[in-house]
Amino acid sequence: MKKLRVGFIGSGGMADAHLKGLVPPQFEDIEIAAFCDVVLERAQAQADKYKEHGTVAYSSPQQMIADAGLDACYILLPPFAHGDAERACIEGNVPFLVEKPIGNDLGLLRELRDEIKKKNLMTAVGYMNRYQPSVQRAKQAFANDEPVLAYGGWLGGPPTAERLKTSLIGQWWSIKAKSGGQMVEQVSHTIDLVRYFLGDAVEVFAHTTTAFNKKLPNLIPGYTIDDAMTTSIKFESGALATILASAATPVGGGVSLDILGTKTAAKFNGWGHDVKIITRGEGGNTEESFASEGAIFPLEDRTFLDAVRTGDRTKIRTDYADAYKTVQVALGANESADTGKPVDLTKTA
Ligand SMILES: NC(=O)c1ccc[n+]([C@@H]2O[C@H](COP(=O)([O-])OP(=O)(O)OC[C@H]3O[C@@H](n4cnc5c(N)ncnc54)[C@H](O)[C@@H]3O)[C@@H](O)[C@H]2O)c1
Repeated sequence: MKKLRVGFIGSGGMADAHLKGLVPPQFEDIEIAAFCDVVLERAQAQADKYKEHGTVAYSSPQQMIADAGLDACYILLPPFAHGDAERACIEGNVPFLVEKPIGNDLGLLRELRDEIKKKNLMTAVGYMNRYQPSVQRAKQAFANDEPVLAYGGWLGGPPTAERLKTSLIGQWWSIKAKSGGQMVEQVSHTIDLVRYFLGDAVEVFAHTTTAFNKKLPNLIPGYTIDDAMTTSIKFESGALATILASAATPVGGGVSLDILGTKTAAKFNGWGHDVKIITRGEGGNTEESFASEGAIFPLEDRTFLDAVRTGDRTKIRTDYADAYKTVQVALGANESADTGKPVDLTKTA
């Protein structure tokens, strides 16, 4: 079998996270062909780990796509850094998997979405929770019921100065102009799952607060994200959702999402999205619990690379056009918090 030549644009934390499950012998049908990073040394350091593949390091996405003969590309960049990488893949007709969120500039993302559509290029977006067996089980449970309400979010503590020294994301995560803020960068996972169950959103309204973290002595320098955000979303179906984000509440929070219908409820808990499904029946309620799959990235990666090999896109659970709708809600929430008004999402569809 011909091996798929795979390249990576962005050689930081998420490159490591995907490579952990991808590197042969886990996936025997791929070659780690190339890495690109704006900091060439980072791309080179990754390439050096895969010398037996003849891996090459680049600092320009255009050059990598032109030279490396790739069958597939991973785009693993911070939200502010998108554009050139996607354009290089689109021009070179290289299918790509891009990590969420797909960016923080809605106008650029709409242009890229339209160029991808024109070329009919295969894409996948890293909303890996849609591949969770627990999420798929809940999806089945809602096959005969309509979700009415959803609520959930990601509630955590403040990013400390220590983070800047110990991780690359410390350089951009807490700077709103770079990451888009917590709702865009992190809680977009929850928005994406809510959309998976409730359908397309039509309006969003949000409040934010910055009253708390500024009092902390060890807050990461350059912190400009909101401490917390509450977001209310209206869906085309008539369903409603409330999503919370917090970087100011280190205790008692975590990741959660409840989807409630007329006969069915799915209660997700934790990063992996373990689920309890409650079904109303004639003899009373029944409850089933499903644990999540710990190694979720290989499931997502296998699906993408199989789609590249076969040309069959039907198992890809989030493509670029779909992910656009998720980031549109998150950026709409930012706009609403800034203006104090609801944002009509149908105007930027
Ligand atoms: N799916 C998930 O659960 C999950 C988890 C963590 C992060 N992410 C997402 O993955 C993306 C990447 O995050 P990360 O943790 O790898 O970040 P990171 O900061 O660890 O790495 C990003 C790398 O991209 C490089 N880079 C920046 N601009 C570039 C450009 N224009 N061209 C080429 N390289 C460039 C940086 O030098 C850095 O090496 C983010 O959008 C993040 O939200 C997803």
